[in-house]
Amino acid sequence: MATGTIVSIIGTGITLLGFLLDNVPNSDAGKATLNFYIANDGAGDPPLSDAGGDLPDVRLWDETIEFLGIKADPGSCEEGAVTCTVDVSTEEAPTYTLFTANNDAICIAWTSITFPGPGQKYGWHPGNWARWCDDYGNGAGAWYYAQTVVPGLEDARDEVYCAWLDADGDVETTGFQVHWPEFNRFEENPAEPNDISYYCDNDPPMNFRTDQDPSSVIYWPTKKGKRDLFTPQSKAEKKRGLERQASRISKRFASSTDIVKSYWPKHSAAKLCDPNLHAAGKSFVSYEEKSFCYMPTKTLYPFCETVDSGACFADGNNTVVVKGAANARMAIPDLSHVKNSVIWGPDA
Ligand SMILES: *[C@@H]1O[C@H](CO)[C@@H](O)[C@H](O)[C@H]1NC(C)=O
Repeated sequence: MATGTIVSIIGTGITLLGFLLDNVPNSDAGKATLNFYIANDGAGDPPLSDAGGDLPDVRLWDETIEFLGIKADPGSCEEGAVTCTVDVSTEEAPTYTLFTANNDAICIAWTSITFPGPGQKYGWHPGNWARWCDDYGNGAGAWYYAQTVVPGLEDARDEVYCAWLDADGDVETTGFQVHWPEFNRFEENPAEPNDISYYCDNDPPMNFRTDQDPSSVIYWPTKKGKRDLFTPQSKAEKKRGLERQASRISKRFASSTDIVKSYWPKHSAAKLCDPNLHAAGKSFVSYEEKSFCYMPTKTLYPFCETVDSGACFADGNNTVVVKGAANARMAIPDLSHVKNSVIWGPDA
């Protein structure tokens, strides 16, 4: 019965996206339940994940920043699984949640919480927010296309992203937090600020971490006047972390035997290759753009049929080739290890 409203961005503006939270598990008295939808499991070679990915540790606080509880090492979750849940014992309303990575990287497309009771339910799309804040210019989380069906975007698989979490350096996003009620704010208080800068420039509503094993939450000052438990990373620290992240993740994916090839017009190879953004994952073909993003160096190659000279991508045999004698000495990536094209699109 519970209807939630999340903030979403379709195109360039923020719009409201209503969705039913009926499919979110209920919670018994004495515990809060978190739910996860996973994408891109097993990506990378050697795989970023073995059989699955490690669900993150979960820490909960209430609105007065009283620490309510933690569930550490909750186990692993398979790609696409909708049954991955984590319970944390508490009787209170956990409005802030911090998710921190374990060693086996995982890409989370959606997460939700049910307060004890069963109480209030909220949902959040970490990958979409990582991507949107990246586009906005204050990105701080590694993302990739997900093509996973998640609540609120059932009819828009091409607009679903996932956010990477990892503790042992494959990806440097080590955690993210969410202040759940702010993703329902339009219902509760339409007068509150609702633009992208509010969410991407302020840390308490949500943020992505690159510090080692984060354990505290960044929160709005409370009426009780408690001190901040956490010194937010400076912008420079954040930037350094993200640069390290980009270089490490690309190494990890350099020997991937897969290329993802997408027919979705909204899946842009150019966006994945944009050096100012923080995409991470396998190399990618966009048929809409007729181009190939080689992710290890974030280099974009046009399809050979579209150019007369220079380095280009031959889609028929997954090779980068050089056209024109003048360009013969151009350095091009060796894709001879690529064995498999993973096809995405409306029919896949
Ligand atoms: C791959 O295809 C392109 C374009 O058809 C061709 O020029 C190139 O020689 C091919 N490479 C290999 C290794 O077959």
